[in-house]
Amino acid sequence: MRRPLVAGNWKMNCDKQESAALIAALKNEQLKDGVEVMVAPTFVNLAAAVDQTASSKISVAAQNMNQHASGAYTGEISGAMLKSVGVDTVILGHSERRAYFGEDEALLAEKVKAALAVGLQVIFCFGEVIEDRRAGKHFDVVAAQLKGALYDLEESAYEQIVLAYEPVWAIGTGETATPEQAQEMHAYIRSNMAARYNDNLAQNVTILYGGSVKPNNAAEIFGQPDVDGGLIGGASLKADSFTAIVNAFPV
Ligand code: PGA
Repeated sequence: MRRPLVAGNWKMNCDKQESAALIAALKNEQLKDGVEVMVAPTFVNLAAAVDQTASSKISVAAQNMNQHASGAYTGEISGAMLKSVGVDTVILGHSERRAYFGEDEALLAEKVKAALAVGLQVIFCFGEVIEDRRAGKHFDVVAAQLKGALYDLEESAYEQIVLAYEPVWAIGTGETATPEQAQEMHAYIRSNMAARYNDNLAQNVTILYGGSVKPNNAAEIFGQPDVDGGLIGGASLKADSFTAIVNAFPV
């Protein structure tokens, strides 16, 4: 289960042509063997991205989905629709979804269940805001996020779940958690998982770090024993910086 993974979250960037150009450029790069590489374009570019990456080591994720299977939810996209265009992973719980679109643990619990039900892999994002960290509440906040959205699930569900710790104060700010802060939290997440489930699961779940990962800090962050990879925003929008991050992986 636990495996090196670097995923690029393109957010609301890259139109059709830009998305195609970025994938073409990535396909030309030498991406390190042994590291799983994923990109998450916007909904409208997913189908093309799946086709374009078909014969490459790059896989494609969506950035969100609706919790309902189908029906009168104008403007929304279901997990089955993602599957039908060949997408096999969905990012859920990103801090921008939480902050700007009111997504909370109860809703995310529903989304996670809906994604798992259609066979999607979930990259589940969570992390504290700066006020929580300053108040020394960051472990409690993360524990509550995991409990609220995930801890109703059976152990077997984690075959389809990757965790992504993303301290909100480090996202898009240029301010990264130090490698020690990332390691400390990732180790805490494993201990929290062990308390709810068991050691075996805690040691086997893949946990990514996200928040201002760049080519110049990736090696140190990925080198931490409990960090299995990264969820990359800004630096995933250029083939050279994303490649440098993938290739910084110490495998
Ligand atoms: P960033 O974004 O790398 O631009 O900080 C990370 C994320 O939002 O996943």
